[in-house]
Amino acid sequence: MTTTRKAVLTKRPDGEPVEADFSIEEAELPELQEGEVLLKVEHLSIDAFIRTTLDGPQGLHGTMDVGTPVMALGIGRVVDSRSDDLNQGDAVFGPMGAQTNVIWNASMLRKVEETDVPARTYLGALGMTTGLTAYAGMLVCGKIEEGDTVVVSAAAGAVGSIACQLAKIAGARVIGIAGGPDKCKFLTDVIGCDEAADYKAGDLNARLKALAPDGINVFFDNVGGDVLDAALDNIAKGARVVICGAISQYNDMEHVTGPRLYLRIPERNASMIGFTVDQYAEQFPKMEEDISGWIKEGRINLPEHVIEGGDNFPSAIVTLMSGGHMGKLLVAP
Ligand SMILES: NC(=O)c1ccc[n+]([C@@H]2O[C@H](COP(=O)([O-])OP(=O)(O)OC[C@H]3O[C@@H](n4cnc5c(N)ncnc54)[C@H](OP(=O)(O)O)[C@@H]3O)[C@@H](O)[C@H]2O)c1
Repeated sequence: MTTTRKAVLTKRPDGEPVEADFSIEEAELPELQEGEVLLKVEHLSIDAFIRTTLDGPQGLHGTMDVGTPVMALGIGRVVDSRSDDLNQGDAVFGPMGAQTNVIWNASMLRKVEETDVPARTYLGALGMTTGLTAYAGMLVCGKIEEGDTVVVSAAAGAVGSIACQLAKIAGARVIGIAGGPDKCKFLTDVIGCDEAADYKAGDLNARLKALAPDGINVFFDNVGGDVLDAALDNIAKGARVVICGAISQYNDMEHVTGPRLYLRIPERNASMIGFTVDQYAEQFPKMEEDISGWIKEGRINLPEHVIEGGDNFPSAIVTLMSGGHMGKLLVAP
């Protein structure tokens, strides 16, 4: 009999999530049935969408029940198999949940190749909620052209770091917005942004005006709220504003603050488009092929912040929401 340790939601967060909203529980897993595999979870993807699933029915990405393991995508290693499709030792991507071991029907999982990149890359640069999201938002919705001035918010996070690099590959001048001098240095020195703007340092609107005097052609927004307004005030004629997410709103989804300056859109003949990555599923193989190529050429890198130990899953959620990481945040249970 195999046991699993899981991070369970015990109380819906009141605003910012805190570790006391979760508990760590141990349970025994049942016997494997035909078609199922037993997985040892190797890495869990700490994604912003997890925060909204902790809320009640108004959750943007669906809701989870109190008393159940927190939803999380991850990479697992097959330790026992009663499926013809997966063998012991295979690495798979799927909805692991915040736990150390899990049983899934093989049809729910995707086997990932580890020849060129470690399996956890399928949560990061090649991950649906990270690299493919950045691709869909920046290259498909943003329609970047060479010479565009592109601004990305939450640029030092997972999606933002890749979005900046994709815009650079497309020939844009890229300005990343992040909180604090260390993150701004990370953006220019590691991610390759041309400039960085620290939204915690004061007047972001004035800073963007100085950095993009001819206006922003594409704004890739992960944050919403005041950051979105500061960017809207600085868009150029014909700009594309891509709404990828709005993390500044996720702790209070009943009182979402919309953009005050949305009239800059008609004034400047601009457009605003939102997207969810799953809408572009048919393009995933092409996106993966392109990103894999750029990884091989050394044109894309995604630093990882790995928190060891499944019992630290609750603190990882707190870290994500408070911006205590750079690049892709993962938990290794
Ligand atoms: N459209 C889609 O299909 C899709 C798919 C996946 C993800 N997303 C969106 O992509 C965005 C990034 O997600 P991620 O998982 O990659 O997370 P992440 O960027 O790695 O981490 C979140 C970052 O947001 C910043 N942040 C948090 N609260 C903030 C606030 N109040 N104001 C400004 N910045 C704040 C923090 O950075 P600082 O230290 O710089 O504040 C933090 O590091 C989220 O909005 C998410 O919903 C969308």
